[in-house]
Amino acid sequence: MADSFEIVRTIEALRARVRAWQHDGHRVGLVPTMGGLHAGHLALVQASRKQTDKTVATLFVNPKQFGPSEDFESYPRDEERDVKLFTDEGTHLLFVPPTGEMYPDGFSTSVSVANIGGILEGEYRPGFFTGVATVVTKLLLQAGADQAFFGEKDYQQLQVINRLVTDLNIPVEISGVATVRENDGLALSSRNQYLTPQERGTAPALYKTITDVAEKIKHGENVSNAEVWGSETLIAAGFESVDYVSARDAHTLEPLVDPRKTGRVLAAAKLGKARLIDNVPIADPI
Ligand code: PAF
Repeated sequence: MADSFEIVRTIEALRARVRAWQHDGHRVGLVPTMGGLHAGHLALVQASRKQTDKTVATLFVNPKQFGPSEDFESYPRDEERDVKLFTDEGTHLLFVPPTGEMYPDGFSTSVSVANIGGILEGEYRPGFFTGVATVVTKLLLQAGADQAFFGEKDYQQLQVINRLVTDLNIPVEISGVATVRENDGLALSSRNQYLTPQERGTAPALYKTITDVAEKIKHGENVSNAEVWGSETLIAAGFESVDYVSARDAHTLEPLVDPRKTGRVLAAAKLGKARLIDNVPIADPI
């Protein structure tokens, strides 16, 4: 439990608190979230608590990162529950802006990250990364924190954020935090709650399959054969459709042509109302 906890809803109050802490010599960490908290989010808070002096979390379901047929309306929202989880984990300050504080009338600017933002998720969810990049740029500039924490579960999002921070010279250190998994391997996600009990039984096949794909590539199997095997295995396991199972360069996310480079296998597949994504590193070849 933190020594003190406060909720602010305006950019002015957020900035004032962060600046005062920095003025007193404290290093400030930022943990952006859309709520629907699970242990994966709490791992971000724990990382910030370890690496910085003051942890600021944000809670904002960003309308700009949802497509017209996506789940913006039904996205899990329970501020009271999330506030309790944030306070129990030792968060010092929580920024919960109303939509008008983030996107006032006349708002017309967006941040669009070319290349890395247009592939994989960018291809299947047009506009998604522009929505993410826009809100993350705003949150980073609004808070002015020293370090910001994002989950590796959304690996491409993490790389898109690294890109925009470099390109726009935003003075903040970005840190990725390892994916938190259930005992059976399923990556924690706010959207797992859309799974029926039967689908929940099928879901861990995603992690198992991409882990096997990574192993195959590590042992020298042809990359595209391993990817096709991965997609077919997911369909056989009960997934309705597979958007991609793809081995990529871990930094640029370009197709992995040279398996001796540091690689990552990323996948997205649909199971009932949920679209699950996950990724694993490809260990160095043996
Ligand atoms: O990963 C998320 O929860 C969101 O995409 C983020 C980074 C909070 C931006 O809305």
